[in-house]
Amino acid sequence: MPKKKKQKEWQAPKGMRDLLPPEQAFWDRLIKAAQDLAEDYGFQKVETPILEDTELFIKGTGQTTDIVGKQMYSLRTAGGASLTLRPEGTPGVVRAYLENGMASLPQPIKLFYFGPMFRYEQPQAGRWRQFYQFGLEVFGDPGAVLDAQIIQFCFHLFKIIGLKKLSVQINSLGCSQCRPAYRKALLDYYRYRKNKICPDCRRRMKENPLRLLDCKEEKCQPIKVQAPAMVDYLCDECNKHFKEVLEFLDELEIPYFLNSALVRGLDYYTKTIFEIFWDEEGVNQIALGGGGRYDNLVKELGGKPTPAVGMALGLDRIVELMKKENVRLGGGPNFKVFLVQLGVMGKKKSLKLFERLHQAGLATAESISRDSIKAQLKIADKLGVKFALILGQQEALDGTVIIRDMQSGVQETVPQEKVVDELKKRFKK
Ligand code: HAM
Repeated sequence: MPKKKKQKEWQAPKGMRDLLPPEQAFWDRLIKAAQDLAEDYGFQKVETPILEDTELFIKGTGQTTDIVGKQMYSLRTAGGASLTLRPEGTPGVVRAYLENGMASLPQPIKLFYFGPMFRYEQPQAGRWRQFYQFGLEVFGDPGAVLDAQIIQFCFHLFKIIGLKKLSVQINSLGCSQCRPAYRKALLDYYRYRKNKICPDCRRRMKENPLRLLDCKEEKCQPIKVQAPAMVDYLCDECNKHFKEVLEFLDELEIPYFLNSALVRGLDYYTKTIFEIFWDEEGVNQIALGGGGRYDNLVKELGGKPTPAVGMALGLDRIVELMKKENVRLGGGPNFKVFLVQLGVMGKKKSLKLFERLHQAGLATAESISRDSIKAQLKIADKLGVKFALILGQQEALDGTVIIRDMQSGVQETVPQEKVVDELKKRFKK
């Protein structure tokens, strides 16, 4: 007998996963809360393609970033174009803003989006290769109040969904006026300590000196702590702007930590940058989101000089915390009626009736694949509906349906075309 070939066990690609039914209630709750709140804050939804021209990320996110250097999923189309699965949302939203003429509408333009992002990272707790972000971007307003409002949005959202142990770390990266002097001071400082730092930092000195402050290597820490801080080099305008952001946060009573080593892993930032952390004793801080101002990016991608600010939240990490913290989800759908069907004819007629009940605004549940009346009434009971409708063989032939009061057990037969009115009458009582 030839040996049977072992069937391959299929698995989701490394770092990617299925979001299964038990988890969906958390995702729905989070996305709905974020979407409703964003609308209340005056944001409008935008959806951009998951694939964009690779060049957009090279120019937008930045050539020297890890995201572009190591983490992009890029592909070549049959036509020879190079496209990349978006590793973050901001460049695509800027492109959409420019391509669709939003720059000539009254400013500011406030947009929100959510969806999957893709980064070829080493998977670990809270780090996926396909993950989901909810983001906000504001175009056309340089005001510090918007930087603060975006941080306020995050804290407000976390309050709504019931997550409390949060903090925000904040820094300013200055602008093209003041950053060069800081860059020089930082490089001078590191140049004297070149033989004490890790090889990665020596590379950073050449490629992207600000990223020196991102180093996690043990031996670089004492050097990093003593390094010059950007806030000491801010020009008057950036200094004033940063002070204003902090004053707004004080006013909002949002606790923040000034972190002069915060640089963020994307190249486009100017002025304010921030990261929101989940603080739990004994647990590594988890970044739930981050963002900042990027006043040069629209111009760099071909538009007029346009100030902009935004942020993105990591939804996978937030859902994980919602589960861990037993966040209350509120009830599922609040069914009013349960439709019980019996026999072939009853099943047939009940599909149509189900649709009519829904159209009439009566939230109706069913269990169409079950045949026993007992099993169906048990589910109706569990759902706590006030009435069950029973549509059997006889009722199907007569064009009637039985209304059963689930509490008293009293049953009454009514014509099918009158059932909506009859139910509404009973609900009014
Ligand atoms: P980001 O800091 O790269 O910023 O990502 C924002 C958040 O996405 C992170 O704080 C984290 O919660 C989540 N995240 C990032 N990578 C992963 C991953 N591999 N697995 C799970 N979650 C992850 C941005 O993407 C910018 N576009 C934010 C922005 C918008 N700045 C201005 N506007």
